[in-house]
Amino acid sequence: METRKINIAIDGFSSCGKSTMAKQLAKKLNYTYVDSGAMYRAITLYFLRNHIDWTDITEVEEALKNISLYFKVNSQTGISEIHLNDENVEYVIRDLVIAEKVSEVAAIRQVREFAVKQQQEIGKQKGVIMDGRDIGTTVFPEAELKIFMTADIAVRVERRFKELYAKNPNVTIEEVKTNLEMRDYIDSNREFSPLRKADDAIIIDNTNLTPNEQLTKVLDLFKVALNKN
Ligand code: DC
Repeated sequence: METRKINIAIDGFSSCGKSTMAKQLAKKLNYTYVDSGAMYRAITLYFLRNHIDWTDITEVEEALKNISLYFKVNSQTGISEIHLNDENVEYVIRDLVIAEKVSEVAAIRQVREFAVKQQQEIGKQKGVIMDGRDIGTTVFPEAELKIFMTADIAVRVERRFKELYAKNPNVTIEEVKTNLEMRDYIDSNREFSPLRKADDAIIIDNTNLTPNEQLTKVLDLFKVALNKN
């Protein structure tokens, strides 16, 4: 018997724990997890490597024609990893160099249209959990379950610092805080699909929640959404 599947949109500020929660949920439900931010990061990587001047829209449009993105599941971890023109860039896109530029690139209308089209295509299969900034508002406005995650800035900085420090001990907590605040500002104030809570999204503040507590909460919401739709 076929089990009905729904789409789940998870939005929120940077380093709110969206991806940790989305990955756990995907595993539990046997759903497909898609990290939409990875697409904007991979595009930024391509622009930086190829010295694309992204203030020049013609250059951006030409560059996008040469970009192919897809996700492929790593058979060892079970996590889908992003590929840019057939190269696995899942790890290199996490560097601070990319984080410093990605919000600028993600604010460009043509870049968003390029990414959103592919995200909506993936969503057609159903059973997709996608995290990002505009999933509940623009990518899947019809998603059966929408979550908006928040956490105190101090907690977010601490989490992000730990992740980056493990890879680069030269990173400072001030740098991380400045970057997060800058990204929050640009992501929330850009002209095209800014970060905003969808009216029908449910807020989860995970400042004081363990990953397990969050998962329990979301699984409860999932059951309600499945029965309602
Ligand atoms: O989730 P993340 O930190 O990897 O996202 C990287 C950047 O991409 C973030 O600063 C904002 C942008 N982004 C976006 O504009 N829309 C999305 N759906 C996902 C990410």
